[in-house]
Amino acid sequence: MNIKQIIAESIQHAFPELTIDQIASRIEKPKYAQHGDFAFPVFDLAKIKKQAPPAIASSLSSMIHHPWVMKTEAVGPYVNFFLHKEKVQKEIVSTIINSGKDFGNLQIGKGENVVLDLSSPNIAKPFSMGHLRSTVIGNSLANILEKCGYQTVRINYLGDWGTQFGKLIAAYLKWGSAEAVRENPIPELLKLYVKFHQEAETDPSLDDEGRLWFKRLEDGNEEALALWNWFREDSLHEFQRIYDLLGIEFDSFNGEAFYNDKMETIINRLKELKLLTLSDGAEVVELDESLALPPCLIRKSDGATLYATRDLAAAFYRKKKYNFAKALYVVGQEQTVHFQQVKSVVQKMGESWAEDMHHIPFGLLLKDGKKMSTRKGKVILLEKVIQEAIELAESNIAAKNPHLSNKQEIARLVGVGAIIFHDLKNYRLNSIEFSLADMLKFEGETGPYVQYTHARACSILRKASWSAQGIAPSQGLNDDYSWNLSKRLYEFPVTLEKAYGGFDPSIIAKYIVDVCQNFNSWYGHEKFLTEDEEKESRLSLVYATTLVIQECLHLLGMVAPQEM
Ligand code: ARG
Repeated sequence: MNIKQIIAESIQHAFPELTIDQIASRIEKPKYAQHGDFAFPVFDLAKIKKQAPPAIASSLSSMIHHPWVMKTEAVGPYVNFFLHKEKVQKEIVSTIINSGKDFGNLQIGKGENVVLDLSSPNIAKPFSMGHLRSTVIGNSLANILEKCGYQTVRINYLGDWGTQFGKLIAAYLKWGSAEAVRENPIPELLKLYVKFHQEAETDPSLDDEGRLWFKRLEDGNEEALALWNWFREDSLHEFQRIYDLLGIEFDSFNGEAFYNDKMETIINRLKELKLLTLSDGAEVVELDESLALPPCLIRKSDGATLYATRDLAAAFYRKKKYNFAKALYVVGQEQTVHFQQVKSVVQKMGESWAEDMHHIPFGLLLKDGKKMSTRKGKVILLEKVIQEAIELAESNIAAKNPHLSNKQEIARLVGVGAIIFHDLKNYRLNSIEFSLADMLKFEGETGPYVQYTHARACSILRKASWSAQGIAPSQGLNDDYSWNLSKRLYEFPVTLEKAYGGFDPSIIAKYIVDVCQNFNSWYGHEKFLTEDEEKESRLSLVYATTLVIQECLHLLGMVAPQEM
């Protein structure tokens, strides 16, 4: 229950025509503190009451009786609410401390399953910035969904199938060296792939060769399979190092190849439903004109299946295996048409769950305003970038706190956290500029700022030898700083609900920055360790703040160190 809802309850008996939520959604925060903590405008209720707004406001004002409300004032068409700060503040802190980690939990999901298709890099290619965004956004959405009461399945749908692997095998057999690949798998395989494309420009027969090898792969040819397996294993091994650095785990690595033997059934279904048509020898599903989508290519004239064919098979498989309530595809916005096509085909097949498939698109990561591309040799090795962030974090920490004991581990949490936070604080569809120096600052809207605020709060508790263990304060605080902070902390559940509703982690990131700013203003005006009758209440609020910061950082996929 948030404060607005509590106020709405105190109002409802005067407006039985409206629900609590309708009333709560009208409640505003006044611009000026002298107008109270909340205001309820009544202009648009004049029709219901057949009275002028000021008259409604003044009669409403006299009808409000609630233990949390100290007084109300009717001012023109508004009723201003002044809360009993001490009482409410104490209630808020008690609620947070008593709920602990569960503070903010919502029951929206009722234990239903959500599958998230995230990360999904292509084997034998470098892990791109786009895959980093998918990983970070997808993981955070999964955490948010879990806190909303869903069970999640994180699926890394590896790009491990398709004609490009025929080309890669052909290239390897022509020009490759086992030793070189073993030593440096991804860059070496990428080189072979690039060479293949260059040579194929003058020698088109190479393309036929590539197709032939993919056909062999699809048919289970041993030599082809062995090479493919090797490339896949080595690539996965490289990717795993990045996932370890990021601290991210998956429930499944079933990639495109996993669906090789599951497409035929789908193609037969499409045939039975008379949805397949021939177009230049290829089999396609025509999509409704009203959607303005190009036909969805299911099988090429040479019999090869496509990206969309595999995504269709995967969607059916996942529905059957997980009976998902939602299937989220966290993939860059350049694939929007693809996901619209796949969803439309599922719809045309008469499956109502097509409505539960959601593409969650995101924008680009830019470097100096330009797309960070892995092509044309401009490989930006993500692992290096992460390592660099960790090193920078380490030197920042060393300057601030040279005696910290486990500097390296904390530098990892801060360096990686900085990258994650920098990504998630922006609305996902916005493109973002990748600047290590900016994201590692200890001030402003950064990961280190939030983590540092948390460590600062922990250090107060340490100095006071304070341990919470479910202790709620026996009295409340009433200064403006602690009051503003407390009110903001209590908004965590509504904030979570908003983030869930928009599949938008940036709402959590912005919220926690704001909480930290409120905390730091209070910190600048308060002597926490003074022995007076409010000490326990202050420490309780500090502790409640650490709980909310930890939970928010967890939702973003970060860790809040106790010290840094
Ligand atoms: N491997 C693809 C790529 O890198 C992304 C896969 C996204 N997921 C999906 N179900 N299609 O572009």
